[in-house]
Amino acid sequence: HVNRLAHRGAVLHFRQDPGRHGTDAYEYWDDGLLLVAGGRVEAVGPAPAMLSQLPKDLPIMDHGRGLLLPGFIDTHIHFPQTDVIGSGGSNLLDWLENYTFPVEGRFADPVHAQEVAEFFLDELLANGTTTAQVLGTVHRAAIDEFFQAAQRRGLRMIAGKVLMDRHAPEYLQDTAASGDTDTRQLIETWHDRDRLHYAITPRFAPTSSESQLASAGRIAEEYPTVFIHSHLAENRDEIEWVRKLFPDSRSYTDVYDRFGLLRDRATYAHCLHLDAQDRRHMATTGATAAFCPTSNLYLGSGLFDIAATDAAGLRFSLATDVGGGSSFSMLRTMSEAYKVAQMQGQHLSPLRAFYLATLGGARCLRLEDRIGHFGAGTEADFIVLNPDATPLLARRMAQSKNLVERLLLFMTLGDDRCVAATYVLGQPALIKRSARSQ
Ligand code: GUN
Ligand code: FE
Repeated sequence: HVNRLAHRGAVLHFRQDPGRHGTDAYEYWDDGLLLVAGGRVEAVGPAPAMLSQLPKDLPIMDHGRGLLLPGFIDTHIHFPQTDVIGSGGSNLLDWLENYTFPVEGRFADPVHAQEVAEFFLDELLANGTTTAQVLGTVHRAAIDEFFQAAQRRGLRMIAGKVLMDRHAPEYLQDTAASGDTDTRQLIETWHDRDRLHYAITPRFAPTSSESQLASAGRIAEEYPTVFIHSHLAENRDEIEWVRKLFPDSRSYTDVYDRFGLLRDRATYAHCLHLDAQDRRHMATTGATAAFCPTSNLYLGSGLFDIAATDAAGLRFSLATDVGGGSSFSMLRTMSEAYKVAQMQGQHLSPLRAFYLATLGGARCLRLEDRIGHFGAGTEADFIVLNPDATPLLARRMAQSKNLVERLLLFMTLGDDRCVAATYVLGQPALIKRSARSQ
């Protein structure tokens, strides 16, 4: 077979949500084998049993004590905000106006957009993230640059030009008509081309007129496989603003619903201040929430309520929300999610955290036939985490007794230093530690 290669190491992937299915939810082998052929997963299982069935001359990449996982999936991140991380702001609306909008203004220049897109993708891969749902700016050429950069690297990425025709600086506004035309043309150019997908991306309700939201809803209906991506109920002042702008809507969630923007493949970042009716209704539409803990803490927005989200049957994923978020690392993000749960007397198990960052994200995006686990025929986007990446991590790992303890250590102490390798379609996109080939 062309490009058939076996990767040996500890192997973990999920089949179900451990928050609901307990230990049946995953498969794990201390000495596992991930067999890759032609950029896809051919098989996964225990190394000794699989090797006895495979040709003796099959090349094997031995990752030693490394942990092989599906590549991380970040369901909400802003590529232009790479240069906003850590820049202050007392709350969401202050941060947007005084720190974020000026930085986004620079993306009128496609050369700048390309440079940032390349840096951003390098950073994702260095952190083990192989798929992300990405917001651009209002500028159409900037998101073209992003798609081109992702295409050159063969990545599975979802992205969209931001729609914003009011309540933003003049230099960052489109119009309902131009946003409609640009979105349609971008869908025709990029949606389902190679491994790329388009997301209709109204920034949030306050920055789109009713006619722009209506246009977004019409496009969403015409293109049912296109994604929808926005923000919802992040900050109390934002919610009060939405209430004044849309006095006829029952709630912030209801604004999106009225314009046909709640459906399968719709992702709403934050979803902090929702009531039970909002959560249940979102769940029935197929829309999902993206939990962005580092952003919610950094901007002081609030605490995502996992228990209430589960109780409503609303599915959620995990996301960095760079640059409101403070890290590209899904490991750092899992750790902050764990702490947000602790603050509310809830518990996010390490197994569930790793599920959310892999299969859980793929499922919310309806991409689980292709990515997020090691089922046969899926795309071989995977990573290797090094348990010996730092002296402290190595020391605590040596003291650990089981997988759950090791996962908690990876997320508590880990970051990009732990990501020894990132593979895209079976090809190394980043290798930091030399793996032994035999
Ligand atoms: N709400 C509207 N725009 C944004 C943004 O850029 N970041 C975050 N965190 N929330 C938003
Ligand atoms: Fe965001």
